[in-house]
Amino acid sequence: MNGPKLDLLGQRNPAHYGQRTLPEIEGLLTERARSQDVRLAFFQADDEGRLVHWIANEAPSVDGWLVNAGRLTHTSHALRDALGSAGKPFVELHLSNVYSRETFRRTSVLADLAVGVIAGFKENSYLLALDALIAHLAS
Ligand code: DQA
Repeated sequence: MNGPKLDLLGQRNPAHYGQRTLPEIEGLLTERARSQDVRLAFFQADDEGRLVHWIANEAPSVDGWLVNAGRLTHTSHALRDALGSAGKPFVELHLSNVYSRETFRRTSVLADLAVGVIAGFKENSYLLALDALIAHLAS
């Protein structure tokens, strides 16, 4: 699940977010998931309400989530409540190393509910998060 402006990857601040577009990252994830016999569904929205609805709708049919909530990571109690009440494990991830940037990015209102957090590896953060979630679900 991808939050605001992550549809602009590839053009948006490549020094922080890398060169890959979101469809390219989804392609890499699909390839990795196939090799692990895992099925993925993707969703991106700028709007907090759409993300909250998507979580509630998908929750019964998923084993877990990979969550890059973008800037909503730092502020959205609505997203926090949605993920909390969905009751499925999730890995929070970021393309950039949020701890080496502005101080507001060091706060996550989601992280304590997450299985773990991966940040700073550009598109590889998604692949690392997928591997981590699969290992968590298998354990
Ligand atoms: C981000 C980090 C956030 O602080 C930022 O608002 C984003 C992207 C990342 O992937 O590094 O939109 O989540």
